[in-house]
Amino acid sequence: FGLMTYDPAFLNTSSCRSAITYIDGDAGILRYRGYPIEELAEKCSFLEVSWLLLNGELPNPNELSEWTGLIKRHTMLHETTKKFLEGYRYDAHPMGMLISTIAALSTVYPEAKNVFDADNRKLQIARLIAKMPTICAYCYRHHFGLPYVYPDNDLNFTENFMNMMWKMFEPKYLANPILSRALDILFILHADHEQNCSTNTMRCVGSAQGDPYVGCSAAAAALYGPLHGGANEEVLKMLDQIGSKDRVAGFIHQVKEGGGKLMGFGHRVYKNYDPRARIIKWAAEQVFTVTGYNKKIEIALELERIALEDDYFVKRKLYPNVDFYSGIIYEAMGFRPDLFTVLFAIPRVVGWLAQWQEMLLDPEQKIARPRQIYTGHGERHVVPMADRH
Ligand code: CMC
Repeated sequence: FGLMTYDPAFLNTSSCRSAITYIDGDAGILRYRGYPIEELAEKCSFLEVSWLLLNGELPNPNELSEWTGLIKRHTMLHETTKKFLEGYRYDAHPMGMLISTIAALSTVYPEAKNVFDADNRKLQIARLIAKMPTICAYCYRHHFGLPYVYPDNDLNFTENFMNMMWKMFEPKYLANPILSRALDILFILHADHEQNCSTNTMRCVGSAQGDPYVGCSAAAAALYGPLHGGANEEVLKMLDQIGSKDRVAGFIHQVKEGGGKLMGFGHRVYKNYDPRARIIKWAAEQVFTVTGYNKKIEIALELERIALEDDYFVKRKLYPNVDFYSGIIYEAMGFRPDLFTVLFAIPRVVGWLAQWQEMLLDPEQKIARPRQIYTGHGERHVVPMADRH
């Protein structure tokens, strides 16, 4: 093992070369394909940014119109997929449902295995991006026993999603434009984040050349964990547990004494303010002009204020991350907390697919297969059962 590098949790390992997303964690910089995240959030739509991540350049008007049309054409789920969803208990966690439903799509589109055919790849990528909001809305409606609402192609990406979630009777649910734009911005912010745990999973599974559905299902499973995308749901639980602004200092004291983590704080790469959290804080202000002020934001702001002045957090360079404020916005918009990680997965599927495609086209990439430092027994021999004590 002389030449083997031991790097548990990849703290110091670059697993690939990538031209998609750039992060400078010390400076708090995030760029997609060279564009600052702040500019993309202000000037572009989620579908424009999806095209950018997948193709390397922003779309021109014709490309955007073709791309939007392609996405709209593939929003429907095969009817058998609905039956599949109906098999779940009413209280099944939507992430469990999402993970298995994405994998089930692999059986609906067996041609997806042909991963080196560029046209086929484009079709499967569009299908996945288009169907994620539909699956998410169906998971939600399944819980309440509500009839599913079919996609409405007169609406844009986020309006259509909100209509599938919340339409009750005719006419359609028309989202407040401030809210649908805020959701679009949140989708942009979550679309990619270089080699995070779920993206690394996507590349790892994809390196065995399986189809993108099984890859995205595995990536979504990685995202589900509370240290990754599951953190946004945990933040809301934490804010509920704290209950009021005057209990924040006591809670932080508890965290410092080893009583758990401050959820939505800290990041492997950012040792500065997560730029996405800054934009989300701004978006929250917009959302509250429509939904009214939310008591949880007061608790969150107080948490941030105290933590950013506290030696424990300063010394460890722990700042709010993307998950700290996102759940508060989602809740204000009317999403249930168990959907928060699904709301992370809808846009992140774009990053998974862009990174997967980049990996497939990279001649240096092979099947992911790390080595290990073996710490077990040396050779030994089986003792007959009668002699074992
Ligand atoms: N609250 C309190 N202490 C913390 C926190 C936190 N949120 N995060 C890290 N620390 C401490 C940790 O205990 C350690 O202290 P010490 O040096 O005394 O042992 C030190 O800071 C370094 O932490 P680490 O665990 O070595 O850092 P990591 O890079 O392995 O973990 C992390 C990064 C995001 C998993 C971690 O900060 C964490 O668990 N945060 C809370 C969960 C969270 O918000 N996750 C969302 C991450 S961003 C979006 C995403 O990826 O989905």
